[in-house]
Amino acid sequence: LFAYLQPKSLAGKRVLLTAGPTFEPIDPVRGLTNSSSGKMGFALAQACVEAGAAVTMIAGPVTLPTPRGVRRVDVQTSAQMREATLRNLPGQDVFIGVAAVADYRPKMVSAEKIKKSGEPLTLVLECTSDILGEIAARPDAPLCVGFAAESQHLETYAESKRKAKNLALVVGNLVQDGLGGETNRVTLFDATGAYPLPPAKKIIVARCIVAHLASLMEKFDG
Ligand code: CTP
Ligand code: CA
Repeated sequence: LFAYLQPKSLAGKRVLLTAGPTFEPIDPVRGLTNSSSGKMGFALAQACVEAGAAVTMIAGPVTLPTPRGVRRVDVQTSAQMREATLRNLPGQDVFIGVAAVADYRPKMVSAEKIKKSGEPLTLVLECTSDILGEIAARPDAPLCVGFAAESQHLETYAESKRKAKNLALVVGNLVQDGLGGETNRVTLFDATGAYPLPPAKKIIVARCIVAHLASLMEKFDG
């Protein structure tokens, strides 16, 4: 009640985020992707808007509706996601990498549909670039938040990602707790420690992440 009278925690802030999977073509009809649903990224975009931020979301291929008030840019490949993210970076206060960005892509994309030969087929993959790592390493970096979806050793991997990529905050979860579903169970990792949140619907988890982010911003600004 009277929510509009409450001060908004991200009022006047600009937030850029990536969401969803990427799709790396192999040939005109096939490609490599992953099972990210985009739901966590879309929920976080919505929570940032609710908190008063101006939100730009670079979205990989998902069929989810755009949350009200979010400016959405659709992309397919990790290279397109990187390009759209860098293009939209100037003036942003926060960058949140929620997307499950491909780590590898086919080195050669066949111009024609690959025909089956009855023999094993070898695909050669090359590394993609790390969008979040690249942005966080810039001298003019906004406050950067990463996600770490792990299948094991959550604490160790999430903490090492936070340090390696120089992030203010990492949202860690076990893939078995979140991927594709309506709920998620995450732990927040920042320079002061690890904060486990109870399992909840993704929009509720997103609002908790935003509250934590807003408190970090106060320190970042001040
Ligand atoms: N990320 C990114 N660009 C990439 C790969 C990852 O921006 N090419 C971002 C993700 O959006 C996420 C964070 O980096 O916020 C961590 O992604 P994750 O896949 O968990 O970590 P990686 O550094 O790719 O390491 P690995 O997959 O080996 O665990
Ligand atoms: Ca990865």
